[in-house]
Amino acid sequence: MRRKLIAGNWKMHGSLADIGTFVDGWGDASKVDADWLVCGPFPYLPELIKRLVPLGIAVGAQDCSAQASGAYTGEVSAQMLADIGVSHVILGHSERRAYHQESDALVLAKVKQALAFGLTPVVCVGETLVQREAGETDAVVVAQLEAIIHALTDAELQQLIFAYEPVWAIGTGLTATPEQAQAVHARLRASLAERSEALAVEMRILYGGSVKAENSAALFAMPDIDGGLVGGASLTAQDFLAIGHSME
Ligand code: 13P
Repeated sequence: MRRKLIAGNWKMHGSLADIGTFVDGWGDASKVDADWLVCGPFPYLPELIKRLVPLGIAVGAQDCSAQASGAYTGEVSAQMLADIGVSHVILGHSERRAYHQESDALVLAKVKQALAFGLTPVVCVGETLVQREAGETDAVVVAQLEAIIHALTDAELQQLIFAYEPVWAIGTGLTATPEQAQAVHARLRASLAERSEALAVEMRILYGGSVKAENSAALFAMPDIDGGLVGGASLTAQDFLAIGHSME
């Protein structure tokens, strides 16, 4: 059975002081039946690993290079992330697709690098408001998903997590209704099932886009929503933990 995952994406937020405040504010998560993950900015990953892993929170990055190593100034390789103890990496986030022109092909190359070094890729898909209003949601997200899954083996696919993040719901306070999100998650799972029923049953698909404690219980109660990828509400321990407690 799929276990829920509550994943935070700190984006370009936080400081060493904020990490201390987060750790001090973290409470008792023992009753929350879910895995926890925080994806932090590169410079803070060692500190996050030192302070959060003992609390039962895995630590991920928000991107990695599509290259293995070499003369790529400013890039961070999957091997380096694995070397310091990072376990997950968000790939294909809509902010990277939009601001860094990341194509499906580039996201795939990054996924392959992550897999080669044992990192769990959290691959994001999602439609813009224009695409939703044009009735293109399913076509857009399925194309993004299939660009990745077609190029990987079943064994590689077993290592993946997907996240459905409607672009219009990110940081806007607009959340997809549980029914809207469920419909897309079910469509994504159907695409996975065309590849392999077993894979579709096992694959965790997170929802992201203005998730907070006030809406998480209803979203996570949907049959194909396996947790959340949380931006703003992952920045404080109280808000983040409250999302877990909302499931109790
Ligand atoms: P918000 O939760 O701030 O809308 O961000 C969602 C997101 O992009 C997580 O990756």
